[in-house]
Amino acid sequence: MAEMKQDSQADISNAGKNRRSFIAILAGGLAMLGPIGAGILSFLSPLFRKAASPQVRVALLDQVPDDGRPYFFRVVADRQDAWTSYSQQKVGAVYLVRQPGDELPVAFTAKCPHAGCSVGYSAEEQKFKCPCHTSSFNIDGCRVNGDKEVSPRDMDTLEVVLNQVAASDSESVTEVLVTFVDYKTGHSEKILSE
Ligand code: FES
Repeated sequence: MAEMKQDSQADISNAGKNRRSFIAILAGGLAMLGPIGAGILSFLSPLFRKAASPQVRVALLDQVPDDGRPYFFRVVADRQDAWTSYSQQKVGAVYLVRQPGDELPVAFTAKCPHAGCSVGYSAEEQKFKCPCHTSSFNIDGCRVNGDKEVSPRDMDTLEVVLNQVAASDSESVTEVLVTFVDYKTGHSEKILSE
């Protein structure tokens, strides 16, 4: 009987030790989780960082006469993907159109809203034309045949501002800055790409 009592006390004592060891391991694990979690988040954070919407200088105002015709300019800007920055890369292209008497041009991105092909301009027909699936747009960016066109929406306009900078001690020039953002293709509304 006394032997059985001793055995059962030993069992209780072992169970207590096991429970304390388990709690110690658990506490250690939780303590580790903080720094590891923070490390993982900091490693992944670029994936969740939204791309900036940079104002990019695309032309001088003198390069865009107010004759109502579109002028094509490549957009060169710093670019960043998940972990790497690239300096002065070609990121797209725009058409600038300045109507007679207007100071501020209208900017259209050259990327077709249907599937992203580069839209061209036919001076003969005075229309923007997409070479991929035949969408065409009037000079104001509206689809020639409205909803009957392949493209689900009109050409995407971009925000434009003018910026005066000194060219020399006595002269200044006016730059055309465009907020160059990318919109998702294939949608009837303008939805920013992430
Ligand atoms: S990509 Fe332009 S019409 Fe399809």
